[in-house]
Amino acid sequence: MNKCIIGLQWGDEGKGKIVDILAEKSDIVVRYGGGANAGHTVVVGNDKFALHLLPSGSIRPDVKCLITNGVVLDPEVILGEIDKLAKANISLKNRLLISENAHVVLDYHKKEDQLREEALGKNKIGTTIRGIGPCYCDKVGRSFAIRMADFLDLESLKSKLQAIVEYKNKVFSAIYNAAPMSSDEIFDKCKLYAKKLKPFITDTTEFLHKSLTEGKSILFEGAQGSLLDLDHGTFPFVTSSNSSSLGMSAGCGVPAKYVDEFIGVIKAYTTRVGAGPFPSEQDNDTGQYIRDRGHEYGTTTGRPRRCGWFDAVAVAYSITIGGIDSVALLHLDTLSGLKELNICRAYNIEGKETTFFPSNINKLAKAAPVYETMQGWDEEITEAETFDDLPANAKDYVCKIEEIIGKPITMIGVGPKRSQTIFR
Ligand code: GDP
Ligand code: IMO
Ligand code: MG
Repeated sequence: MNKCIIGLQWGDEGKGKIVDILAEKSDIVVRYGGGANAGHTVVVGNDKFALHLLPSGSIRPDVKCLITNGVVLDPEVILGEIDKLAKANISLKNRLLISENAHVVLDYHKKEDQLREEALGKNKIGTTIRGIGPCYCDKVGRSFAIRMADFLDLESLKSKLQAIVEYKNKVFSAIYNAAPMSSDEIFDKCKLYAKKLKPFITDTTEFLHKSLTEGKSILFEGAQGSLLDLDHGTFPFVTSSNSSSLGMSAGCGVPAKYVDEFIGVIKAYTTRVGAGPFPSEQDNDTGQYIRDRGHEYGTTTGRPRRCGWFDAVAVAYSITIGGIDSVALLHLDTLSGLKELNICRAYNIEGKETTFFPSNINKLAKAAPVYETMQGWDEEITEAETFDDLPANAKDYVCKIEEIIGKPITMIGVGPKRSQTIFR
């Protein structure tokens, strides 16, 4: 069985936890898109790992971990992660494979990300400043791109970097009045990165297709959420890649027909980091209650996440565009103690009710949520092991979401740990 895990909201749904659980029965886990803007958390016993680039299967010692063509890879971040896991006695030797075609995020990308956001002022996107947009721009523009394969030919890398940094410095100075960067310094860092990463660089597409022929079980790990998809999300408040399931094939070179199950991941409520419309947002005591109980602060940037009611219109849209088969619902435990819970089942846009999510933000900004109100529950549910262990109102809440989104909820999270998961 090959499975693909996709966030169905604005990211941080708990994909890391679900990937870690399913990795137990997988031979290979594949990160195919995004970069170090992602922050995927895996909690095993008392150990917590926050991974930005390494696939969340890394924690399982027998799983092969792939980073494929669609990823924009920051060498500094991945080397830090490899070191961190080594300190926890988890080795990636002979099981981490990085595509020679993955693009490389360098210091000038991060600088450009920051300068652009500063220049936008109150109109900023609220990016993670991880250089994601600028690196994907260079990829699409082609002339100034560095890929992992460039680390295998340092002489040619040196002259490429000279030309790129010269160009970037002109832009930094002319547009942002910013200090120039040194191509020599960046090259010196790259030499070090190349030395350490060389053993991992390979043709991941060939490896994946060989593995498919051998009947290996592959788990594809989506990053971000479907509503941050560059083409189908809430543009321009999105990331720079196709973060819905539509980006899977392009990102790793495996057609979607090889995936047996697309599993969507949702929280029992909604969160968003960064700017952009969020119809069911609760910028009030309820939002703060959810933020406090759910520890809703960014895994990558530490920013407080915006919190709101579960938006079934948004999730149903992500299911539709993504061909999602089943759903994992996390953070049900976070909602304990709320007297009533609202589920957004439709939007009212200028007097007209719709259940189809308008990704055009001019329309979305006018969407007033239409709520279905459910009774809450007081009990803590972090020790529930089966669906029947849950209070009746919690079960009703799950069933109502299932009914509105039209897909089975097969896993329920009642806490951050691997073990705090109910299978239905
Ligand atoms: P990802 O980006 O989708 O992998 O999600 P993040 O790791 O950024 O954020 C999810 C957060 O929720 C992490 O801190 C997880 O440890 C935590 N988490 C995951 N599932 C649950 C759950 O069911 N209940 C609670 N309370 N926390 C959870
Ligand atoms: P995971 O994989 C939540 C958001 C940023 C910003 C927008 C653009 O952990 O779910 P970028 O740095 O990508 O140019 O920022 O996208 N964003 C995320 N939000 N979770 C993520 O990843 C995100 N990756 C990017 O906050 O609004
Ligand atoms: Mg995250």
